[in-house]
Amino acid sequence: MTDPDSFSNFANRSSSKWLRYPADVLPMHVAEMDFDVAEPIRARLAQMVVNSDLGYLGPFAKAGQAFESFALNRWGWQLDPTHAKMATDVGVAAVEILKAATGPGEQVLVNTPVYAAFFSWLKEADCTPVDAPLVLEGDTWKLDLPAIRAAFESGVRVYLLCSPQNPVGRIHTAKELTEIAKLAKEFDVLVISDEIHAPLSWVPFTPYLSLGQEAAATGVTITSSSKAWNTAGLKAGFLVTASDQVRAKLKLLPEAMQWRASILGAHAMVAAYEQGVGWLDQTVLQLQENLEHLRSEVANRLPQARLYEMEATYLAWLDLGAYKIQDLQQAILKEAKVAVVAGSDHGIDDDYPGFVRFNFATSKPRITEAVRRIAELCEGH
Ligand SMILES: Cc1ncc(COP(=O)(O)O)c(C=O)c1O
Repeated sequence: MTDPDSFSNFANRSSSKWLRYPADVLPMHVAEMDFDVAEPIRARLAQMVVNSDLGYLGPFAKAGQAFESFALNRWGWQLDPTHAKMATDVGVAAVEILKAATGPGEQVLVNTPVYAAFFSWLKEADCTPVDAPLVLEGDTWKLDLPAIRAAFESGVRVYLLCSPQNPVGRIHTAKELTEIAKLAKEFDVLVISDEIHAPLSWVPFTPYLSLGQEAAATGVTITSSSKAWNTAGLKAGFLVTASDQVRAKLKLLPEAMQWRASILGAHAMVAAYEQGVGWLDQTVLQLQENLEHLRSEVANRLPQARLYEMEATYLAWLDLGAYKIQDLQQAILKEAKVAVVAGSDHGIDDDYPGFVRFNFATSKPRITEAVRRIAELCEGH
């Protein structure tokens, strides 16, 4: 990490995380990590720049093959790399799938609280979100299988699943996902499984398409190395299918999708999957340590706040509802000088006003400082 103990923003980074707000605001909002990018990825990119190797990305089998080996080693998932198609990023893959597979105004199931961009993707593809919210059991947010079944029974035929779930960091279990595959098969539902956070898991993760025939017949996975290896600006993602039934539903996907991904992103992906596993394992350990640090800071300084069990990601779902602060995210931004994502961005109807999403992929001193500032606002000291 470049500058762990200074609280002014990183001088050598120019991504939205660092430029969106003034330098005295701690940026704990957008899903980027403060850690340095893995050395093999930096080396690959540097070499490409030196070689002026910056042309169009043509058909590029290597990315699918590298992901195949990674997914097999990490999760025991055998995918067919010839059915991995590149896209500009995961958002573009989702929108293209939705455009190809849905009609005007079509209802698409989501489980809130969920990644805010899901709603803009649905809007862009002229789809209408339908919610089967996660349910809180003890300290764990879980899928509500009866509500999902009810949505399918009511006629919903497309399901945008966030697996692992951003925010809350839940790994949906193999049992839950198997049940979803069964229901999807029964009701002929297309399951779009967004698995971009999967490498950042510290309990076993189950890829949807690894779950046998019912999953293969219903699912399309969208993913990238960009979240786990912190290269969102490189613009490359892909989608994977495992059956002719799903490929028939996606037959309107544009041929040109592949040409709209970046050559740098595609090569970074190969470097990540082939040479970035050591870095990834270190990062996952670091995230677990940071989460424990966040938990202890929150327990000490924000006694009325609540954090939940997490199994993946660096995006904590923090319940500050007990403090009854109006327009919570804006108050935290303007008064505490910390940028977080508003809870209400993660629901359909301004749900979750007492929550914020807090990015803890930074240094421990920054986590401490952010919690201290939020506590000053909430606890008034
Ligand atoms: C669940 C999820 N999907 C997709 C994305 C964005 O992916 P991309 O930048 O490839 O569109 C994010 C970013 O945080 C995310 O959390």
